[in-house]
Amino acid sequence: MPAEPLIRVEKLTKHYLNSAGLGPGRGERVKAVDGVSFFIHRGETYGLVGESGCGKSTLGRTMLKLEQPTGGRVFFDGRDIFALEKEALRRLRREMQIILQDPYSSLNPRMTAGEAVGEALEVHGLARGREKRRRTEEMLAICGLPAGIYHRYPHELSAGQCQRVVIARALILNPSFIVADEPIAMLDLSVQAQIVNLLEQLRERFGLTCLFISHDLGMVRHIADRIGVMYRGGLVEEAPQEELFRRTLHPYTRALISAVPSLEPGKPKRRIVLKGEPPDPAESWEGCSFHPRCPLAGERCREEKPLLREVSPGHLVACHLAEGGDKP
Ligand SMILES: Nc1ncnc2c1ncn2[C@@H]1O[C@H](COP(=O)(O)OP(=O)(O)O)[C@@H](O)[C@H]1O
Ligand code: SF4
Ligand SMILES: [Mg+2]
Repeated sequence: MPAEPLIRVEKLTKHYLNSAGLGPGRGERVKAVDGVSFFIHRGETYGLVGESGCGKSTLGRTMLKLEQPTGGRVFFDGRDIFALEKEALRRLRREMQIILQDPYSSLNPRMTAGEAVGEALEVHGLARGREKRRRTEEMLAICGLPAGIYHRYPHELSAGQCQRVVIARALILNPSFIVADEPIAMLDLSVQAQIVNLLEQLRERFGLTCLFISHDLGMVRHIADRIGVMYRGGLVEEAPQEELFRRTLHPYTRALISAVPSLEPGKPKRRIVLKGEPPDPAESWEGCSFHPRCPLAGERCREEKPLLREVSPGHLVACHLAEGGDKP
């Protein structure tokens, strides 16, 4: 029997009440995450991709119960996270850490790097005094920071250094699961690669299981073992990284892949430009969530919602034309 995955998400749903503006969407339900199921094996990195606003951050936050779920369940190492008592959830939080996009807003401006990382140890009752100092310095070094950083405040650090401090603070708790939500999106291009390399090294060293969230499929390709493509609150395709690129089944995934610069120089790609705007999640719709922008949409697509199903081992797709694994 295959081992139980570290993370199992079942029909996770998060709806918001749209309170923004005075327009027609006000008071409507925003289906930010609408019945998402997937799993992540121990030591695996799962890449979650999709356009801005499709629900990636909401999914990551709700999985960790940083947002109150509307429905569904999440199992961590077989334990139902949403059913845990407050104290048990607090203890489990140490195991599940999140790294966000903006490192400056993730850090207290009045705390030095050393204080920020050491505080995490103290809050969880793991170390104090000299031991805390020793472990903090060690973790800052592991995250590639020079010793002098210990007494520096966030405003004295570059964005890349700040993100290393945030990563050190998450990892000092010895978590088994990390959600990295667009951790490099606010960094300069040259720094982005350094942070991705650091995350890869740390994942090997500490045997981490990761959910890596990004709008950039080209980047996720380098770091993820399996990839889930999200559109309008739901997964539309999921496959091992190589398979997703080699045998793309969903028209939306095709469009995303066509925008990734080719790895083979001299082999230009034809970019698929999607018609229409990215969807407004407050709008309700029938049929396939992608049909207003899909170049292949037919009548059935407007009426019947395609379910996510496995068309070959480990390859799931939600498209009527992909039935039985045929290319749409
Ligand atoms: N706190 C909130 N209240 C109302 N709507 C929200 C809230 N957070 C997110 N949303 C909406 O949910 C949708 C998904 O947002 P988000 O998860 O941030 O997407 P992504 O991370 O993929 O860019 C968006 O339409 C967003 O406006
Ligand atoms: S179900 Fe229809 S509209 Fe949806 S992705 Fe497939 S072909 Fe396009
Ligand atoms: Mg986001």
